[in-house]
Amino acid sequence: MPPTRATTKERSAVRTLLRLWPYVRPVRIRLSVAALVAIVASCTGLVIPLVLKWMVDGPVADRDPAGVWLGALYLLLLGIAEALLFGLRRWLVARPLSHVEAGMRADLYGHLQRLPVAFHDRWASGQLLSRATTDLMLLRMFLAFPLTFLLVNGVTILVGVLIMLAQDWTLGLVILGPTIPVVWTCVIFENRYADVARLAQDQVGDITTVVEESVLGIRIIKGFGRHRSQARAFRELVRTLRGTELRKAHMLAMIWGVIVTLPEVAIGAALLWGSIQVAEHELSAGTLVAFLSTALALRWPVESIGFLLAMSQEAATATERYFEVRDALEEGADSLSSAGASGLVAQFPAPLWGAALKRPERGAGRDNMRLRRAGAVNPHRPAADDGPLPSAPEPDGIRFENVQFRYPDAAPDSAPTLAHIDLHIRPGESMALVGATGSGKTTLTALIPRLHEATSGRITLDGRDITAMPREELRSLVAMAFEEPTLFSASVGENVLMGAEDGAGEPELARALAVAQADFAHALPQGTGTQVGEQGLSLSGGQRQRLALARAVVGRPRFLVLDDPLSALDVHTEAAVEAALRDVLADTTALIVAHRPSTVLLADRVALLSGGRVTAVGTHHELLRTNAEYAHLMSGEDHRR
Ligand SMILES: Nc1ncnc2c1ncn2[C@@H]1O[C@H](COP(=O)(O)OP(=O)(O)OP(=O)(O)O)[C@@H](O)[C@H]1O
Ligand SMILES: [Mg+2]
Repeated sequence: MPPTRATTKERSAVRTLLRLWPYVRPVRIRLSVAALVAIVASCTGLVIPLVLKWMVDGPVADRDPAGVWLGALYLLLLGIAEALLFGLRRWLVARPLSHVEAGMRADLYGHLQRLPVAFHDRWASGQLLSRATTDLMLLRMFLAFPLTFLLVNGVTILVGVLIMLAQDWTLGLVILGPTIPVVWTCVIFENRYADVARLAQDQVGDITTVVEESVLGIRIIKGFGRHRSQARAFRELVRTLRGTELRKAHMLAMIWGVIVTLPEVAIGAALLWGSIQVAEHELSAGTLVAFLSTALALRWPVESIGFLLAMSQEAATATERYFEVRDALEEGADSLSSAGASGLVAQFPAPLWGAALKRPERGAGRDNMRLRRAGAVNPHRPAADDGPLPSAPEPDGIRFENVQFRYPDAAPDSAPTLAHIDLHIRPGESMALVGATGSGKTTLTALIPRLHEATSGRITLDGRDITAMPREELRSLVAMAFEEPTLFSASVGENVLMGAEDGAGEPELARALAVAQADFAHALPQGTGTQVGEQGLSLSGGQRQRLALARAVVGRPRFLVLDDPLSALDVHTEAAVEAALRDVLADTTALIVAHRPSTVLLADRVALLSGGRVTAVGTHHELLRTNAEYAHLMSGEDHRR
């Protein structure tokens, strides 16, 4: 659900649509020229009745066939000119408008990449998807038609009315009779339609969410035999949307009825009144013909106002929905210039954008993180040798100082997820983080790369406050493997090298795969070039976990955060990964969430998380002896020691 299902009462469609100006600005000249062309085309149509008048009062009255033919030729030429001009308008707007749509979509995507995790926790993905697709399409259609034609039709109606008044002002007043009721209907319609349009677009978002979830969760749905109830729930949503769409259609029909009927009645009245005047020789037949053809020519501009207004209303809603996402604050507004971030995003092809922020920069101290097993020359080379940073920080490891954290959407009176965390992970040390399920381990690890912001307290990396570092730099220092190993629709190599610097290639890939015991990748059909992820080969849970681990270690990060990275591996593979990781971890400061004693044994020390605090720190064996809760957590599974 989107958190803000805005009421449309207070808003003005025009003010909302004005927010599109920055996107429309670059194409404003083309759009204006196109509008001008359309106005000329439309007014060309209004000349036709005048030619008719000339024909009726001239050649037809004088029975002059040559004159009639000439008039017909004029009419033909005018018709062709009108058609050509409208064609030119279409050609003028098509290309620039597709640019506008593409630009807005790319900006939305880039923005989504930079929004904090907390935002994505709150928003259903279908709502975001529908904004990036349906809503943007509505906006393009608005810029192509209603925006131009509300203006064009307005001018045409004005010119037409002036022509009619000039022909005969009494008939003109008869035609103008329905103006007030029609305008009144339009105003009422606008307000009502806005609410229903918003509802419909939100419901499309809900449907998108359900479709997306059921595609992702198809195994669960089938496994639990829930396909019927799922289909029923979906049908229910579709029915609701259908109801809303029918309400829209109903309103459109009503306004259409008024807009068509009233002018039609007025034209009938004008015809009657005009005929009487012609019969009494107070009006020429040609003038009446011209008058009525002008009135008929104005029928379409008047009738179309109904759906043009409807489309504008939908576009205003779409704009509102689009900017609800765009207005959400990006992370790093405090310390990272968003221009820098968008520049970074722009460098990578779409599927890799998500990783762009994690892509490490070459920085001080990076190269002494070389994997020992890879035979690095001197892993203890002074850090300042090879980095652009002016001074390398003193190694100090990771420090949590009185850190408190509460999820932004948690009830204000609930206890914070993490309260008073004090923890020091020494440089080069690997610390296991143990705690009951739901105790906040994942939450704590997410604070280090600032996926969530600590509510209070301080976290430092080598003595530097993480909030004082640009996020890009922070995330180049910290590599993570998450509980849920996610692979993108890309090759194995691309997935793993997301965690490395730009220049990294085959050797780094091979080393990382070896550390993570993911050598199976070489045996895949196209080796490390095999496509995986949703559009590629399906891998087992343990295989995906090992690739995610390879991604975490491939950049030889200074700080490594692993959230239960080996949970899906069998004991032997786990032991092999551990042995290889031990080599890597010798130089890296690591925090490893662990449930199994076998994973815990990988670490130098263990921290026990309980009740939102770190209640004990020590070696596995110390804690086993001295801490009952720890012994309880580890008992039953301790089959290795
Ligand atoms: N995005 C979120 N918004 C609100 N509350 C959350 C969010 N994510 C987790 N929580 C809550 O925070 C608490 C800690 O969750 P967390 O995922 O950190 O636990 P964990 O120790 O990693 O558990 P596990 O061992 O099962 O992985 C839980 O009570 C959970 O319900
Ligand atoms: Mg967890």
